[in-house]
Amino acid sequence: MVDRPKPAPSGAKTKKPTPDAAENLTAILAQKVVGQPAATKVIVPYIQMYQAGLAPEGRPVGIFLLLGPTGTGKTKTVEALAEILHGSEKSVLKVDCGEFQMEHEVAKLIGAPPGYLGHRETQPMLTQQKLNAVTSERCGLSLVLFDEIEKAAPSLTRLLLGVLDKGVLRLGDNSTVNFEKSLVFLTSNLGAREMWKEISPDFGFQGGLTAERPDLSHKLQSIALVAVRKKFSPEFVNRIDCVITYQPLTPESLSAILDHQISDLQNHVNTRLGLRCFNIEVPFETRQWLLHKGTSAEYGARELNRTIHRNLTQPLATMVATGQVEPGCRVRVEVEEGGESLSLRTTAATEEELPAHPTVLLVDDNQDLLHFLERLMAEAGWKLLTAESAAAARKAIVNEKPNAALLDYMLPDGSGVELGVQLRQTAPRMQVIVMTGSMLPPEEEALCEEHDFPVLRKPFLASDVMNQIRSRLTPAAGAGGRI
Ligand SMILES: Nc1ncnc2c1ncn2[C@@H]1O[C@H](COP(=O)(O)OP(=O)(O)OP(=O)(O)O)[C@@H](O)[C@H]1O
Ligand SMILES: [Mg+2]
Repeated sequence: MVDRPKPAPSGAKTKKPTPDAAENLTAILAQKVVGQPAATKVIVPYIQMYQAGLAPEGRPVGIFLLLGPTGTGKTKTVEALAEILHGSEKSVLKVDCGEFQMEHEVAKLIGAPPGYLGHRETQPMLTQQKLNAVTSERCGLSLVLFDEIEKAAPSLTRLLLGVLDKGVLRLGDNSTVNFEKSLVFLTSNLGAREMWKEISPDFGFQGGLTAERPDLSHKLQSIALVAVRKKFSPEFVNRIDCVITYQPLTPESLSAILDHQISDLQNHVNTRLGLRCFNIEVPFETRQWLLHKGTSAEYGARELNRTIHRNLTQPLATMVATGQVEPGCRVRVEVEEGGESLSLRTTAATEEELPAHPTVLLVDDNQDLLHFLERLMAEAGWKLLTAESAAAARKAIVNEKPNAALLDYMLPDGSGVELGVQLRQTAPRMQVIVMTGSMLPPEEEALCEEHDFPVLRKPFLASDVMNQIRSRLTPAAGAGGRI
């Protein structure tokens, strides 16, 4: 069986499912790892090669060294791939090389040889079983991450050389672990200090990149390569397929990451609290405030994460824990006067704002997508009305008023956006979400803005569409926007 990435609904308008898996994978990865197109472009062909059954034998499918400033998405890339390929970002065999700085600690990784006292009690960290445990039914490719490789003891680097060279690791008890169906990622902060010096003159008072520097990425790449060659032997460097240098995040990338983090927080609330969920409304000014506080050249998106955690997640958790948030209510996050901190205020919900078993209207002439979503929503206990055209959709809602409508932009008899506007006229409280596989024309974009229709860009993961609908199911929802 040829492995495929998670069956993301295709943007194709044909009846036959003809998704271009590689394009989908690239697009989904680029959505999750913002502003690092080089990484996406380099990694995806190796996955394709594996999926096509053309990966060479006797070595891992791909070996990547990820370099660059802290908090720019190196580890995130591996986690995002795990989520896409296996459905969970935890499906990664991760070795923190910082734990193996001393020679004797390396035995923890491969187990002690027989004859050593207590060798049976030392369970190696890297076993075939553990490698297989991070694959899934959907995909047999395992992702192995050696984090902070520069910290590893020399004997670990030697062991690794065998893995990179032959795709095999020999354990203390003489058994072997086969890495021929693995992508191996090595991450390192080598050269980060020099990179930081190169980047820092470009940071203005806000700490964001202020000027375009077309030469910067080349400079960072060469700083990284010099540092790598200084640290590792030529044999080691020669076995790496690609050295990818991550770029400092631009203000646009940080803003996109902030939007993701807020959507993730909303999704977390929706999935963890179920019917007790509520909506988090973060207006533009608050987002700007968070960006201003959370932008740091030195720590990349890590600082943004900390700022969100400190100013939004923690206060929200306190409110939930102390019973200040009613199910279905709206929590609006605003900048306090003086701009020093944020305030969280709740607005109560009315009964009808919280549908227990929502009805969703789904309009698309792609039957595969219809059936796929129908199954998904039935599993969530939702009721689904389906239609393959705008005319059929208008008929479907005569007797039943859906809580939300998911409309394909390109319908056989018109535009999904216009249909959305009409549906809103008959049912003003209906939440409308537009799906599209291409860019919307500017006037349609403007209509979506005007009516607050979020636009879901194909391809998307099943979880994205479910979460988007969930977070829109109360009219006060505010975490939406472009996805
Ligand atoms: N390019 C990005 N796209 C999306 N999120 C990002 C990106 N970069 C960083 N983040 C966010 O910041 C967090 C930290 O990023 P990550 O762990 O990937 O940093 P890193 O590059 O591995 O840094 P380090 O060198 O310190 O290990 C991630 O969990 C993610 O939330
Ligand atoms: Mg990392």
